[in-house]
Amino acid sequence: MTSVRLAVLISGNGSNLQALIDAAANGTLHGEICVVVSNREQAFGLQRAQRANIPNHVLAHDEFESRAAFDQALLKLLDGYSPDLIALAGFMRVLGGEFVEHYAGRILNVHPSLLPRFPGLDTHARALRAGAREHGASIHFVTEELDAGPVVIQGRVAVRENDTEAQLAERVHEVEHRIYPAAVAWFAQGRLSCEDQRAWFDGQPLHQPKLL
Ligand code: GAR
Repeated sequence: MTSVRLAVLISGNGSNLQALIDAAANGTLHGEICVVVSNREQAFGLQRAQRANIPNHVLAHDEFESRAAFDQALLKLLDGYSPDLIALAGFMRVLGGEFVEHYAGRILNVHPSLLPRFPGLDTHARALRAGAREHGASIHFVTEELDAGPVVIQGRVAVRENDTEAQLAERVHEVEHRIYPAAVAWFAQGRLSCEDQRAWFDGQPLHQPKLL
């Protein structure tokens, strides 16, 4: 595979989606975004998709009677676009086992911390409270366990004295926008894969995440 069909799932602003759109446009993504799906109608990322002429859909999770029913509908919608890879880009829904199994080894997520530190929510505030000197972002393959799949690449930022949550978040975002397109490009070029719950890079198991 030298070019991926990428599906991007969002819930909000979509700045990571924008980074992927820009990388697709300038050729560095080695792929095209075939569809964008949001679980929230108001997500600004939908406008970014429209501006880039990318097919986009809203699948409102609160209109489904169960998590499994939502996952099933999402799976069906995505399958219609035959994606090679799914990128979660600020998608604030946990995907169930059946979904993850269906796309095993083909789902990436961006998480705003240096995993395994600070899985879950409010990562910037937690990093500040913990007195972390370093913070950052991770791209990882998605497995059934939340924020625990194999990490592919991380980007670090130094925590500055008197940093506010917003200042720190902004610098972490900049890092995310560089590492996400890089990870997708590696996947597209066949350099990156996930097998047996492990990330592989250039034919070798990846023992440590790549660093920006
Ligand atoms: C990003 O910082 C991403 O790491 C985070 O949501 C933000 C979305 O921003 N994701 C998570 O917290 C996933 N648990 P964006 O909509 O501007 O790309």
